[in-house]
Amino acid sequence: MSKTAAIIGGGVIGGGWAARFALNGWNVQVFDPDPQAERKIAEVMGNARRSMPGLTDVALPEEGTISFHASIVEAVAGASWIQESVPERLDIKHKTFAKVQAACAPDAVIGSSTSGFKPSELQQGAARPEQIMVAHPFNPVYLLPLVELVPGNDNTGLLVEKAMTMLSALGMYPLHLKKEIDAHVADRFLEAVWREALWLVKDGIASTEEIDNAIRYGFGIRWAQMGLFETYRVAGGEAGMKHFMAQFGPCLSWPWTKLMDVPEFTDELVDLIAGQSDAQSGMHSIRELERIRDNNLVTMMRGLKTQDWGAGALMNAHEKQMRAGTVLAARADEIEDPAAPVLTVHRAVPLDWVDYNGHMNEARYLHAFGDATDRFMEMIGCDAAYIASGGSYFTAETHIRHLDEAHAGDVIEVTTRVLAGAGKKMHLWHEMRIGERLVATGEHFLLHVSLATRKPSAPSPEIEAALARFAQAQATLPQPDGAGRAVGAPR
Ligand SMILES: NC(=O)c1ccc[n+]([C@@H]2O[C@H](COP(=O)([O-])OP(=O)(O)OC[C@H]3O[C@@H](n4cnc5c(N)ncnc54)[C@H](O)[C@@H]3O)[C@@H](O)[C@H]2O)c1
Repeated sequence: MSKTAAIIGGGVIGGGWAARFALNGWNVQVFDPDPQAERKIAEVMGNARRSMPGLTDVALPEEGTISFHASIVEAVAGASWIQESVPERLDIKHKTFAKVQAACAPDAVIGSSTSGFKPSELQQGAARPEQIMVAHPFNPVYLLPLVELVPGNDNTGLLVEKAMTMLSALGMYPLHLKKEIDAHVADRFLEAVWREALWLVKDGIASTEEIDNAIRYGFGIRWAQMGLFETYRVAGGEAGMKHFMAQFGPCLSWPWTKLMDVPEFTDELVDLIAGQSDAQSGMHSIRELERIRDNNLVTMMRGLKTQDWGAGALMNAHEKQMRAGTVLAARADEIEDPAAPVLTVHRAVPLDWVDYNGHMNEARYLHAFGDATDRFMEMIGCDAAYIASGGSYFTAETHIRHLDEAHAGDVIEVTTRVLAGAGKKMHLWHEMRIGERLVATGEHFLLHVSLATRKPSAPSPEIEAALARFAQAQATLPQPDGAGRAVGAPR
């Protein structure tokens, strides 16, 4: 299968798809008649490059190329995934599918970003209806994992399976809806919330800002981690969901919601909402707001990752797959030349590692070097199983030199040398680089300990031998510049 995607329509959503594919190593071929499309996608790519690579703790594959094409025929050539993100009008979508299907591979997936149309509507009049399915993403497509995948009646199971696999490999969560419905699942839900919000503003109950505060200071945070039903289950207390339903079920017949009533969309209502929104957020440009949003999303998702929950659990599972087959060796004995420094970290700088100076916070240098040490320990056999058996290394001393800046999205590599390794002692030297540029060094002295006594003890003979192999092979290398340096000594 080719790792080439065609993006038909490169606006807000098409641009986000382009970034999701390209940063996962796919080549992307774009068709959009707007002469501004290239500039707009470049701006989306700028945001994506800073936020997406550092979302996970494993470096993404090398970025694919993005090319712009004058026709759909050119854009779909060789593509195994074609994503339609043209404006939400059925006639434009039908014309687009006709041109796509006249030129694309018959076994390529054609996904539509449509927010509302059912697949059976999209497939009307198509040459191969089974090839077209809804693949509805959420903005920003390069960060949010959800895609609602809605195949129509004509979709073959095989193509749907292929689509699920491909989306998962992009770090996404395909939610496969077995039955089609207008606006799928998430947008029906959002529509209900939107309707209530319009009434609340129109009736002068709350401003746009007060409504946003009601969400972001309370239930919005809950939703992000447990959704609706699991949140309510907890709210029911020990008696659980049945109790919750008995308590709050009757509210449905009380005047708590406007139900299906929709406020009339008058100029007055539009002006009221736009005016309040300007007062609330007009001091920020849209690009600024996008960056603030991306910073917040990455920080929250990385928090969920440490809890292995919700979107964070998905990221951990994806990371496990990404780790297999990366440039990092699994065990020391896989390394043929022990005289060469060992690659121990290969990752991008996450947004939440960046401080008020716009570069990586000093604590994160230690974080990365700590990861390098952990990785090296694992490689020489001091892995989770060994630690569970009662032995480990404790760090006794650390010296870090900050030599150059690292920014969000930069791919950092740490290589590790063994300056000394015998008995209980392990003296490591880490060098952090971005490409060829040396940005920091870390010197660490560790002692092997018994986790039972918390006192120094001899490591297992296997670990001692694995460590000695590196120490002896590297003993003849010149001492690294800066090793053994005292704080503040002249450079
Ligand atoms: N904006 C969202 O939050 C969001 C979220 C999920 C899905 N969607 C869906 O994604 C689709 C695109 O929405 P958007 O928000 O990116 O709109 P947009 O207006 O930002 O982008 C549409 C792009 O399509 C291009 N275009 C117009 N006619 C075209 C044609 N014939 N062939 C190719 N390109 C053409 C336009 O130049 C524009 O760049 C819609 O179906 C929408 O429902 C939007």
